[in-house]
Formats: sequence, C-alpha cells, structure tokens
Amino acid sequence: MSAPRSATADPIAIDAARLWDELEGLARISALPAPAVTRVLYTEEDLAGRAYVRRLAEEAGLAVRVDPVGNAFYRLEGADPSLPPIGTGSHIDAIPNAGKYDGTVGVLGGVAALRALKEAGRVPARPLEVVAFTSEEPTRFGLGCVGSRLMAGAIAPDAVRALEDDAGRSFEEVRQAAGFTGALEEVRLAPGHYAAFVELHVEQGPRLEAAGVPIGAVTAIAAPASYALELEGEGGHAGAVLMPRRKDAFAAACEIALAVERAAKQSGSPDTVGTCGVCRVHPGAINSIPSCVHLEIDLRDTELASRERAFAEIEAAIEAVRRERGVRVDVRTINADPPAVSAPRIVEAVEAAAAAHELASQRLVSRAYHDTLFMARVAPTGMIFVPSKDGVSHRPDEYTAPEEIAQGAAVLAETMWALAENPPSAREGDTRDG
Ligand code: GLV
Ligand code: MN
Ligand code: MN
Repeated sequence: MSAPRSATADPIAIDAARLWDELEGLARISALPAPAVTRVLYTEEDLAGRAYVRRLAEEAGLAVRVDPVGNAFYRLEGADPSLPPIGTGSHIDAIPNAGKYDGTVGVLGGVAALRALKEAGRVPARPLEVVAFTSEEPTRFGLGCVGSRLMAGAIAPDAVRALEDDAGRSFEEVRQAAGFTGALEEVRLAPGHYAAFVELHVEQGPRLEAAGVPIGAVTAIAAPASYALELEGEGGHAGAVLMPRRKDAFAAACEIALAVERAAKQSGSPDTVGTCGVCRVHPGAINSIPSCVHLEIDLRDTELASRERAFAEIEAAIEAVRRERGVRVDVRTINADPPAVSAPRIVEAVEAAAAAHELASQRLVSRAYHDTLFMARVAPTGMIFVPSKDGVSHRPDEYTAPEEIAQGAAVLAETMWALAENPPSAREGDTRDG
C-alpha cells in the first residue's frame, strides 16, 4: 500500500549508519591508500566505483540506465511515469589526493533518499532520478563536467572525442576501452527532460559550520574559467649560461602565476579566486634551464564581469612577460562558463524541506562548480549543501559527520517529493543568456 502524496506524511528518515558505511565502502575504491581517495575517469577504480554504486541502486530497486559517456541514471518510478522526472545526482570521480565526500554524498545520498521513500511506501507524483555524472573533475582530460556538458548540449561531441590525456590517448579511445561504446550524440537530453534538478553536495567551504547551520540552500554557482598556457624559452646548461642570456620558461611561468594571484586579490571583488594548480617543467633536470612549461590557470568569480576584469589583468602580465623575457607564451581557453542562478521555487522548497525536519537552513552561493552548473541550462535547478569540517575539501581530511550527511539526504528526499508534486515552471532559473 502506498502512502498518500500529501504534505502531512511523516518526515522521511535516512539510515545514517548505513549511508556512512556505503560512503566508506566507496572510499576504499581508490588508487591511493586511505585516507586519500583518487578515482580518475575511466580507470580501474572509476569503473569499480561505478559498479559499486550500481549494485546499491539495484538493491534499492531502482531502474538503471547508462548513457554512452557513462552517465548513470537510477530511477524510482512515479505515480505518472510519463511526466518529466525530478533529477538529482553528483559525481564519484575524485581528484588526486581527494577526500571521501566530494560528489559521493550527492550520489549515494541520492540513492539513499530514493531508497528511503521507497521503503516508506511513498510513491512520488512523477519519477525521481539519481544521476552519477561522468568526469565532473577535470583531472584526466583537463575539462570538468564532461558528462553534464554533453547532457546540456554545452559542448560538441566532436570536441569531447578529441580531448587528450597526458599520455596522448584520446577521450574516444579510453571511453571505448572502458566499455562505453554508443554515440556521444545520444547523451544530449531532450528539451524538458527534467522538470527540476537539485544536487546534494558538501559545502567545501566554512560558512555552514561557522554559522552552526546544518543545511545550505544554494542560490547561485560561481562562474569558472580555466586556461592552458604553453611557454617556450631557451634551454641550456645551468652552470654555463650566464643570467643576462637566459630565457627561462619556468621563471616566466612564475611571474605569470604571481600575476594570477595579484589579479584575483586586487580585482575589487572578494569572490575572485585564481589558482595555478598544474605546472610541468621541461626537461625537468636540476642542472638544465627550463625550456618549456605547461601551466594551467583556474579563475572564478560569482560575477562574470569581475572574472573578466581579472583575466584582462592576467593577459596584460602575460604580454609583459613575452616582451621583457623574450619567452613565447600561447594561451588556450579550456572553458569560460557563465554562473548559474537557482530557481527561487527550488531554493524555497529546500528551505521548506529543512524546516519540515526542524533543521535550520541558510542561503549561500557555491564557490565550487558542480554538474548543476550545466543542468541549469536545461532545467530549473537548485542545490543543497551540508557542512564541511573546517571548510576543507579536495584534501584527504575532508569531513562531514554521518548525521549531517543523513540530514542532507533527508532534505533532498523531501525536496524532490515536493517538487514532484509541484514543479517549478520550465523557465525558472534558466541561465541561458539569449
Ligand atoms: C570542482 O571540483 C571544482 O573544482 O569546483
Ligand atoms: Mn571536486
Ligand atoms: Mn564535487
């Protein structure tokens, strides 16, 4: 017997210990020993992690579909299966030396949310679907959110096929080798596929913990951009070539990295952040002047205009390095994405779901990017954050307590239930700018 779809149903209960054990089990599937987690796209660990999540979803009685890039969909049927579903989900790939909760909380928390509804005998008005997105992290091919970009039509399949990893293998080659063989063209969602999409994620920042608030209702996602630079100077003997004659590509890269830091600090916006997290030096010998450097810049802001101002500063610094050091610098934009604004109705639904569980909530902006940044192009979206201890993320000591994760999953279940009953209008929260 199904419970009625009414607001008076008992608040949904999540088994916190079970969800915690499932997260621990997934964390053990890692290329680096605990406490670090590393699961890079289409590696043995990524494939084992996918199989692990699939087994849990199947055990929960969810229907499984996998698309040609490997995005996995776990579906709980609704009273009217013909209606567009309410989506949720996140990612299970993990950057080198990551923690256990980035992305995984949204995938396993999503499965736990649907399982709890099913076990409570509650049939949603329309289907609910958890997505485990392929390659939210840019680790292997330098580009993040590959699965959701393809779903939203934000990148051409040809551009994805042509991506290369550091070993020179194409995306297409490693995708096929991992067993995903359909046409990438089929990944794009039909218009109106999701009635709404709401992602559960750890905050990865300190605000909820500092405020003592267990639930964050995300109002917007900051706009990320990234750039790949190739610097070419002149190599030579570290002892024999005197300083006036040098065209050291690494010294030039250092000047650019400092310019990135300066531009972000002086942008006039406290939300501008700039990072150079990848720097490869050739030939990489202590007694050889660096002739070539590959440098990557990650630049973000909640406002597009201040991010662009900061990048203009960086470009001016690059020009000065070219001129003054005689080093060639080629700049390629990897991605420069606009921010996403949550649908007000979804923000309100998250707040109402938190209140139904007697949990305080707070509105906040996501400074990290998420697959929801791209789902926002094709559906009204929102996000639910749970606290991160000391605001730490992308590190092995990332931590969110079991009860905080369970609270997030319960709020997710309640939010999806309410949105299934009463979805936002299709244009709400749509960030396409014309
Ligand atoms: C996601 O991992 C990000 O870098 O924001
Ligand atoms: Mn991440
Ligand atoms: Mn993430």
